[in-house]
Amino acid sequence: AVRMADGNAGEVGAEALKGPKAAELSVILPSFNEAANIPILIGLLDEALAGIAWEAIVVDDNSPDGTTEVAREIARTDARVRVIRRIGRRGLSGACIEGILASSAPFVAVMDADLQHDETMLPKMLAALKADETDLVVASRKVDGGTIGEGLSSFRAWGSNLANGLAQKLLNVTLKDPMSGFFMIRRDKAEALAPKLSPQGFKILLDLVSSAGGTLKIKELPFTFRERQHGESKLDTLVTLDYFGLLLAKYFGNIVSVRFLMFGLVGASGLFVHLAALRVFLLSDMEFNLAQTAASFVAMTSNFFLNNQLTYRDRRLNGMRALVGLLTFYAVCSVGVLANVGVANLIYADPSYWWFAGTAGAIMGAVWNYAASSALTWRK
Ligand code: GDD
Ligand code: MN
Repeated sequence: AVRMADGNAGEVGAEALKGPKAAELSVILPSFNEAANIPILIGLLDEALAGIAWEAIVVDDNSPDGTTEVAREIARTDARVRVIRRIGRRGLSGACIEGILASSAPFVAVMDADLQHDETMLPKMLAALKADETDLVVASRKVDGGTIGEGLSSFRAWGSNLANGLAQKLLNVTLKDPMSGFFMIRRDKAEALAPKLSPQGFKILLDLVSSAGGTLKIKELPFTFRERQHGESKLDTLVTLDYFGLLLAKYFGNIVSVRFLMFGLVGASGLFVHLAALRVFLLSDMEFNLAQTAASFVAMTSNFFLNNQLTYRDRRLNGMRALVGLLTFYAVCSVGVLANVGVANLIYADPSYWWFAGTAGAIMGAVWNYAASSALTWRK
């Protein structure tokens, strides 16, 4: 029993509540350029979730189309709507994770904000989640009764099947639709897994399930993926590359991070750029040492821009900061060459292992370049 501030003796139990009723379900709505869709979606949620204490958390990555303002405008008259605006960051998975972490409700749903996900699934998903200790309910396009409907082009459907197959084989994920972006999970379970999740790309569900390593009790419910009416999809080649990066990284037991893998791939591409440039310089009668140095700069420059586009796209440097970044990257890589040659020399003491010396040196250089550029060039 608690004595109330106004002096009246009042019985206040565990259910004591200030303000509006606390939400039982948070619907996380990651958005990028969905200004036309958000108001419609909130109206649909209002209908579909009648009788459930719900809230919506829009996580917008500073969309140029003003999605944040549109969502805030709704939030001004509807206390169930909350908005997180992220600046300087992009990524569907990261937005979902932040939304989940901002929730206090026991159950959280993650749902696309573009009306492609059927909101009438939500009450069914909530009921399934509460029944028999289920931890995660996935709205699936691949179990009986679910379809990809008009939502995916045939090329996308083919790619989606390939990605599923790989995920199932490599990661032993038994989910029929591990690429679904529509699911509901107990918040405490998601929160416990959050430190293991990668914020890049689109594969939040796969990441959750594979990080949990078989500890989640999962149920899949069929649904039909709708066609997009307004705006366009953000799933592009970069997102796809990133997905395969996650598969590889998880497959190798998280020994290497997705970022390091990407950095390594970019580094490997740099070798080809280097050789091509060297060839061109030599053909134009440049002296070898000069040609080799010039080719190194061409390769470093190409690596810098690729890393800036791919590996560090969530910390991408623009304008003046890109120029400064490029200079620090040159500096980092020069030290990397020293580390490379130093280690290689040590091992080359026995010349029959030249290839081992060379590889060890290159790995040493790559590890240094990665660590130093991550701390210096693309520092957080
Ligand atoms: N905050 C934030 N940041 N939101 C984003 C970002 C981002 O960088 N990129 C995309 N979104 C939002 C979109 O605004 C939309 O609400 C939702 O995430 C899905 O993005 P779409 O671009 O519409 O994806 P899609 O329809 O091509 O892909 C759907 O199907 C895939 C499987 O085929 C999604 O459900 C994916 O999650 C799913 O993997
Ligand atoms: Mn979509």
